[in-house]
Amino acid sequence: MHNILKKKQLNSEICLIEFEAADIAQAASAGQFVILRVDENGERFPLTIYDYAPVKGTITVVCQAIGVSTKKLCSLREGDQICDIAGPLGHPVHAANIGRVVCIGGGVGTAEAYPIAKTMIQNGNNVTVIIGSRNRDLLICEEEIRSFCRDVRVTTDDGSYGRKGFVTDVLAEILSSEKIDQVYAIGPVPMMKRVAEVTRPYGVKTLVSLNSIMIDGTGMCGGCRVKVDSKTQFTCVDGPEFDGHLVDFNDLTQRLGQYKNKEKESLSCYAKKCRIGLGEEH
Ligand SMILES: Cc1cc2nc3c(=O)[nH]c(=O)nc-3n(C[C@H](O)[C@H](O)[C@H](O)COP(=O)(O)OP(=O)(O)OC[C@H]3O[C@@H](n4cnc5c(N)ncnc54)[C@H](O)[C@@H]3O)c2cc1C
Ligand code: FES
Repeated sequence: MHNILKKKQLNSEICLIEFEAADIAQAASAGQFVILRVDENGERFPLTIYDYAPVKGTITVVCQAIGVSTKKLCSLREGDQICDIAGPLGHPVHAANIGRVVCIGGGVGTAEAYPIAKTMIQNGNNVTVIIGSRNRDLLICEEEIRSFCRDVRVTTDDGSYGRKGFVTDVLAEILSSEKIDQVYAIGPVPMMKRVAEVTRPYGVKTLVSLNSIMIDGTGMCGGCRVKVDSKTQFTCVDGPEFDGHLVDFNDLTQRLGQYKNKEKESLSCYAKKCRIGLGEEH
């Protein structure tokens, strides 16, 4: 069991939760994630490790309540417990000796961009962070990112705060005016796809952190498979970070939609289909 030490509502949909999880806190690095289960009957779902405190023995996650399990987690309070947390999972971000970096977070992906940008700055890279949301009320983590990054640009779709437009508008301007060594994007699939389209003509290395649907998180079920450079990769063990110029975003969108269209179908049912699908492909 893992105690909740802190819970903070960041906006109407998104909350921040700090858990006791000493072993994970000691092993965690930026870019990794955990798979949680709220109670014994709950489904397993992945969340990025937003922050970790090895001495205190805690990890913090930021969760958007969009479905059954995320809503259940966001309804808990300080002092409550959750059943289990597995991790850290996935590969840590490579942050050393990159140079000039643009790090982009959209929606709840802004919280996922936070540890990436922080680690890149701690490793001596020159980082601009672009964060975006639909409107001012939905924007998260701006103050926290400004606490370690001097160049933070904000966009909102409706212009209610920061610059009106998309994160990719700002990215395009930066790319046209200076040499960038790497772009890192985390957010909704259409945003990451567009980021890769914008950077492609410049030949700038572009990494994206994919949010495939996961079940076991161990490379066994096939639920999180993605096509990268026409090859099958598993987001849980090969990612979550991939080369955005090689990711088949249409395939990813279709796989995310496959579950959305059948929201009542349970994840275990989806997992069974994934295994069947995997068998057919291999
Ligand atoms: C490596 C990784 C890291 C992630 N980190 C975070 C994070 O830090 N914070 C956060 O809020 N979310 C994160 N996610 C997404 C999160 O795991 C999903 O939102 C969650 O699994 C939804 O579970 P649910 O039971 O609440 O929703 P469900 O009831 O299972 O689904 C509700 C709706 O959400 C859609 N959905 C389900 N899973 C996903 C998904 N992975 N991506 C997009 N749509 C989905 C379904 O199609 C459905 O329409 C991450 C995903 C991955 C793979
Ligand atoms: S979640 Fe990655 S293979 Fe099952």
